[in-house]
Amino acid sequence: MQDRPTHYPKTQQNGQPLKPITQVLLDRRATPHFTADPVPDDFLEAILTFGGQAPTGYNLQPWRFIVVRDAQNRKRLQSTALGQSKVAEAPVVIIAVGVREDWSRKAEEVLREGAARGAGKIDEVESQKQEAVEFLSHIRKDVWLNRHVMIAVTAMMLVAEAYGFDTAQMEGFYPSKVKEAFEIPNEAEVVALLAIGRAKAPDKPYTGRFPLKDVAFQEKFGNPWKSANAA
Ligand SMILES: Cc1cc2nc3c(=O)[nH]c(=O)nc-3n(C[C@H](O)[C@H](O)[C@H](O)COP(=O)(O)O)c2cc1C
Repeated sequence: MQDRPTHYPKTQQNGQPLKPITQVLLDRRATPHFTADPVPDDFLEAILTFGGQAPTGYNLQPWRFIVVRDAQNRKRLQSTALGQSKVAEAPVVIIAVGVREDWSRKAEEVLREGAARGAGKIDEVESQKQEAVEFLSHIRKDVWLNRHVMIAVTAMMLVAEAYGFDTAQMEGFYPSKVKEAFEIPNEAEVVALLAIGRAKAPDKPYTGRFPLKDVAFQEKFGNPWKSANAA
């Protein structure tokens, strides 16, 4: 496996500093229309690289990212994605895929490397692997893949936005059609699409979020979070 990346753009394309994560989370909107302005290769590679830095259970990294830039291929992808115009407009659409059985082949390598890097003991790798195999055998693999691949997709989205690009995540597609069109193996899961580029028009309005008291609890489910700012 590779070490942490060190070569990636340290500013936005226009030389401005990267947007802080808190600003990204407040400012980001799901972009409905994109210009044809390209995402330069060094930024795209950084976005993919940071996606791959996301955490996964046992560090198994079951994701694959298909980068679709060719205009004809984006049109083909659009036809599998409810005709959504952003798929054909955005200069880059990433098809995020989870692979089902790869983890059982990779588990030993991953755990061994973790131990070699100081995060465990070499002589415990075999028992850790047995534990992982046993634990994962009880989890539905489509759920497991969605859980992990979405963290990587979200990391890519946030990094793209920090670099000043606009993004749109999509669940509106037919997985079987995407698989057929992009030669994705049957046993893999197509988890999400992520369009990256530049918004054609100012962002759509902020549509609001449920208040914290309705979605955050303390100590047990249903016991409302009491805001530190409450009177
Ligand atoms: C996983 C996921 C899938 C989504 N799928 C679609 C989609 O297929 N088409 C679409 O127009 N918007 C899609 N959206 C965008 C949401 O509708 C949007 O994020 C939500 O309405 C909140 O708006 P905001 O992101 O601009 O704050 C998706 C968002 C997420 C997180």
